[in-house]
Order: sequence, then C-alpha cells, then structure tokens
Amino acid sequence: MRLLYLGDVVGRSGRDAVIQRLPDIRRRLELDFVVVNGENAAHGFGITPKICEEFYAAGVDVLTLGNHAWDQREIMPYIDGDPRLLRPLNYPNGTPGKGVGLYGAPRGRKVMVAQVMGRLFMDPLDDPFAAIERELARLKLGPGGAEAIIIDIHAEATSEKMAIACHCDGRASLVVGSHSHVPTADARILPGGTAYQTDAGMCGDYDSVIGMKKDPAVYKFVRKLPGERLSPADGPGTVCGVFVETDDRTGRAVRAAALRQGPHLAEAWPE
Ligand SMILES: [Fe+2]
Ligand SMILES: [Fe+2]
Repeated sequence: MRLLYLGDVVGRSGRDAVIQRLPDIRRRLELDFVVVNGENAAHGFGITPKICEEFYAAGVDVLTLGNHAWDQREIMPYIDGDPRLLRPLNYPNGTPGKGVGLYGAPRGRKVMVAQVMGRLFMDPLDDPFAAIERELARLKLGPGGAEAIIIDIHAEATSEKMAIACHCDGRASLVVGSHSHVPTADARILPGGTAYQTDAGMCGDYDSVIGMKKDPAVYKFVRKLPGERLSPADGPGTVCGVFVETDDRTGRAVRAAALRQGPHLAEAWPE
C-alpha cells in the first residue's frame, strides 16, 4: 500500500498548501491512504467541522489532532459523529471522540490509524505505551487484520517518539512523530519493518517560529510581559510529511521517504 502522512497543518498558509497540492501529490505518488495532522489548522489553534470537510474534499482520509484538539470548542460535540477525526488515544475515559479507527482502502484492504500523545514536557496523560499496546493486541498487522497500521505519536521529546517506534517495530507500518513542527532527517525503516520519522514537520509558513508570526513569538522569550497573542504566519506554506510503501502480504514497510514541497526548505520528493 502507498501511504502519506502530513504533519501539523498551521493556519490558512498550511491549509492552502495542503488543499492545493494534495490532489497532485495523491495522483503522482498513486497514494492509497492519506493521514494529516490538523490540530493547528484553525488559525493555529484546533480545527473546525468546516475545515475537516475541506480536507476530506482535497483527498485526506483521516485527520489526527493532539494537545490542541479542543481549542475550537465546536469540535467537542462534533467529533463523535465524525469517525475520520481522531484525538489522542490516551486521554482519560469519558473524553469525546476516539483515538483509533479502522478504515477501508482501495481493493478491499484495511488501514488502522491511531494517535497517542507523549508525556515528556507535556500535560500528564494516561500511559501512551499501554494505550497503543492494547490496540496492537486487538488487531494484527497483515491480511486478516489491517494491511497497514499508522501510528501518530504527538510528543515533544524525540526520545519518547523513538521509544514508541521501537516498541511497535514490526507491528505497525509507520510510526511518525508530530507536534514539534520541524521535520527531522531520519526517515528510515526499523529492523522489524516499521517505517519511522521522528517528526513529519509542519505544513505551513516556515518563515515563522514554528508556524507563528515571528515578532510576537520572539517577544515571548525576550521579555516576560504579556504581549500580543500568537497568530499564524501568513506567507506561502510548505507541505511536509513522510511517504511509505508497504508490502500487503506483511503490512511492513519496504520504502520510507520524506516529502517536502514549498518555499523555505530544501524540497524532497520520494524517488
Ligand atoms: Fe502542532
Ligand atoms: Fe501539538
């Protein structure tokens, strides 16, 4: 199967870049399934039902969220009615929505997508390792289970993301990090056959501080006074993510490559 994951979409710059470029990327890479992190899509903070619809119309199959999941309050009553929108799995019981889903892909194949949130330098949450372990025990990778399993680890610390990937190696097709908004140069296949990139990077304007306008973001560090509220940079956006090809007989990755399209970063296109 041919899979694409795109990192955190930040504001209108990120949305426009994804919505304009994804149909062409989807066709050129002959993609079967696309997952996009939408936690910063609505002016940098959360996502709205309308934005979800725009992403689906552009060829997104599943949207994941993160610590900004609930920034737009209208998403709380909406999420239970949209099975394609996932929030982190390891939120406490009673949190709206789901952290895992099983979806149809072309030619009768199935894809499981799950998101967990890390705990290092993040708000305390349930154990992400135990949460993902429960889901992987329920559904096996490969025919009869899911031909592909994609896990989004939304975390600050590179060590925690890499540890989740090693913990899942051989049991998932792709483990990919989100949240840092900076793409890492370590797309690879782990020994057990799980594709991995520590962070997919954001989709947004890189002439910024992780997607936000530079001056207010810099002042937040330079002086400890309340300042202007952060808002997304509004220059041309870059699309960042990771492409993975899997073997349907095993669900394991045979190819993993970074994808970057747009200004400000060196472009990367899967060979
Ligand atoms: Fe983010
Ligand atoms: Fe985040």
